[in-house]
Amino acid sequence: MRVPRTCAALLVLMTAVSCTAAHGDDAKPGAPAPVLPAFQRLLPAPERARAAAPGTGYRLEPGTVIRAGSASSGETREAAERLAEQLRASSGYSLMVVDGDQANGILLRIDEDAAELGDEGYELTSNAAAVTLTARTPAGLFYAVQTLRQLVPAAGGGIVQGGTITDRPRFAYRGAMLDVARHFFPVGQAKRYVDQLAQYKVNKLHVHLSDDQGWRLAIDSWPRLAEYGGATEVGTGPGGYWSKEEYRSLVTYAAERHVEVVPEIDMPGHTNAALASYAELNCDGKAPKRYTGIRVGFSSLCMTEQKKEVTYRFIDEVLGELAELTPGPYLHIGGDEAHSTGAADYAAFMDQAQKTVAKYGKTAVAWHQLAAARPADGTVLQYWGTAATSAAEKGRVADAAKSGHPLILSPADRLYLDMKYDLTTGPGLTWAGYVPVKKAYDWDPGGYLGGAGVPESAVLGVEAPLWTETIATRADLEFMAFPRVLGLAELGWAPKGAHDWTAYRQRLAEQGPRLDAQGVTFYRAPDVPWS
Ligand code: ACM
Repeated sequence: MRVPRTCAALLVLMTAVSCTAAHGDDAKPGAPAPVLPAFQRLLPAPERARAAAPGTGYRLEPGTVIRAGSASSGETREAAERLAEQLRASSGYSLMVVDGDQANGILLRIDEDAAELGDEGYELTSNAAAVTLTARTPAGLFYAVQTLRQLVPAAGGGIVQGGTITDRPRFAYRGAMLDVARHFFPVGQAKRYVDQLAQYKVNKLHVHLSDDQGWRLAIDSWPRLAEYGGATEVGTGPGGYWSKEEYRSLVTYAAERHVEVVPEIDMPGHTNAALASYAELNCDGKAPKRYTGIRVGFSSLCMTEQKKEVTYRFIDEVLGELAELTPGPYLHIGGDEAHSTGAADYAAFMDQAQKTVAKYGKTAVAWHQLAAARPADGTVLQYWGTAATSAAEKGRVADAAKSGHPLILSPADRLYLDMKYDLTTGPGLTWAGYVPVKKAYDWDPGGYLGGAGVPESAVLGVEAPLWTETIATRADLEFMAFPRVLGLAELGWAPKGAHDWTAYRQRLAEQGPRLDAQGVTFYRAPDVPWS
């Protein structure tokens, strides 16, 4: 049977889906997107979807009741309330939320025995009587709700396609990074990004909190870091920093959306803001000027015998306060581009930093340059190489992976959201080349370092960093992140068998109106058939 390409990937996963709306490779850029059958519209694509006959399913009506299970935990009730709020906004319906577990209306339920759904999976069924969302955990229920939001017709009412979706993520770590050091962004912007990401099942927000150009988190034991070191950014702007209260509010806000905040204090390089704030951190005892350019690799914490003690006390106190603010397991300690730290000093410093993270009961994450030194047991490495990265460097990362260090993949020529799309892109850099939407999506994280000997099982997940040397506004930030970060979401969640650019770009096109409705200033890539 020859099936339209649009459906080919999904047919691998579905036994009874109808693939009526095809749209081939030859679609003209700018031509209106077809309306895909609902289950094929989902982004990220689900692991398994079995559609009932077209036109069947649950009809959302003004009187639809949302039921939060019978043993309604606070979290089920919260998920139900949030779903009601979101559907009310699009439909105008009243959508009462009640306790109870009749399969009548929209039912949310936690089934702790549904082991097959794992930590984040869910099942969604829709028939004439009800839409039932089942998960083993609140996170799974949250993702079921995100799927349902995409299945509800944009105009609000209408039928939720009948059938069953059984879904789980491919990778546990699905992240985005926001650099608030090069240009400062307030906590409200980070929360907005969390909302945007969580709807696509991204579950980590890595915040790059310190760099040469600014220190962005209040640290009580070293107050000048934020007060003085935070008052600059690239260019002439005033910089800024997050108070602990603001930071906690972000952590809570993200957790409510099942996003874990992964904080990064970059060291021993990328530390000019700290060195400028405290003279005693410098080998010569003199504080350098604050820095507002975009060079890298010129700063280092001091590792002389005389200064080691203060340097180690500094990282102990900073990481101690950071750990206290961090409910999640990870503290990111940077370790990249330490070009002004000797190799032996770098290794000794990173040993100490990892030991300090462990002392506070956390797991260290570091950029993959640590593979050239001594990654400690359990340390996670974040790979940011490119197609041009040497075999030797990849080999060191592969050796670390083989000896048990999980990898987060952020290949710069695929997932760096600060790379320009093409020649015409205003903001952004090009050192890793242009990264058009297709290039960001069209690679396989599981096999990416396979040539170097890294098995898929060593890949914890993927992350798309957004560095902000050239990005100073919300509009530019969203223009660079969207739509590429949806590719990240797809790579992190969707099964490998659904990977297909032609099908993906159709689904991506269908997210356009949704992003528009949310006021996201996304890039209308010419090779995506936006409606
Ligand atoms: C990096 O891009 N320096 C991690």
